[in-house]
Amino acid sequence: MAFQVTTELSPAVFDYKPPNPPLKEFVPSRDRAFFGDPEKASLLAQASAVDNLTPYVGTELKGIQLSRLTDAQKDELALLVAERGVVFFRDQDITLEQQHALAAYYGIQDRDPNQQDPRHVTIVGREGNIRAYGNNSGEFHSDHSFEVNPPSYTLLRMVKTPPDGGDTIYASQAALYDKLSPTFQKTFEGLHAIHSSDRGYAASINGGGSPHRAPINTSHPLVRTHPVTRLKILNYNPWFITRIAELNAQESNHILAFLREHLLQADDLTVRWRWTAGAVAFWDNRAIVHKATPGGYDVTLREGKRTAIFGERPFWDPDNSESLSQRIERLQSEKGENRENGIHSQSVLNN
Ligand code: SIN
Repeated sequence: MAFQVTTELSPAVFDYKPPNPPLKEFVPSRDRAFFGDPEKASLLAQASAVDNLTPYVGTELKGIQLSRLTDAQKDELALLVAERGVVFFRDQDITLEQQHALAAYYGIQDRDPNQQDPRHVTIVGREGNIRAYGNNSGEFHSDHSFEVNPPSYTLLRMVKTPPDGGDTIYASQAALYDKLSPTFQKTFEGLHAIHSSDRGYAASINGGGSPHRAPINTSHPLVRTHPVTRLKILNYNPWFITRIAELNAQESNHILAFLREHLLQADDLTVRWRWTAGAVAFWDNRAIVHKATPGGYDVTLREGKRTAIFGERPFWDPDNSESLSQRIERLQSEKGENRENGIHSQSVLNN
């Protein structure tokens, strides 16, 4: 029978009592990316190849085993993930225990409200009518952005995968912001979106799940400042955002429809990753949205382990952030000045 998702407020939803209290906001320890060498010399020296898979998002590092990184390399990797949105690896020998330890290196391990094991989520294949009302499982999202402290660094290791199908697509939120007109950029800066777990909570209970926390609705800036790169990032999430707080209902509906179209048109700002067993995607949940492409394969053949850490509460700091285009222009002009002075500068798409 096809998998059905229903977000109805059924008697089961009303009767259900989640066992755990809501999470409280906290300030995480300093992002490990700040400790990384900006040149990433130690990490990149180890790699046999560094392939930027698209101009805006996604780099594949070859010849590296995550199980053998030094602390300095882990910090450099965090910086690369923050800058490139997602970094991919194949043929990893890292065990589940080592994956938990790697996540714990970066911060406090995040726990999705539906996550049974406190340290990881088991990711499976997606099927069913993804076009049905209320079924968001084929939708772009950043993972549980409704949290007060949504996840930052997130690592998915695929244990098994079908011979074809089940790819994951990642889109750069810095580039999505950058490609808006200056008028829309200004309009969206300072607005807030309500991120809600209401529908996911109901769907989980109706599907026989037992979420361990009550649903929440959290207001987050629609444009946020990335704490590491200081880039302006669109904080749009079609799965969880229900409305724009400052707008009337019609206005909000239309802006959200525009943002969805803006994202779905953005093939040039995405990377599509084809999984193999033992492959890893390590992404910055603050900098990208992603979706698993559903259907057309045997879902029992797909299984992955996802670990993540809690990030900071999203913030907007207009005085200390810039768009990708502003960054590129500034670095190009500095490069020109440096060339005149005989100094070499870094890649323009990097911080
Ligand atoms: C996720 O949404 O975090 C998992 C992505 C996937 O299943 O490929």
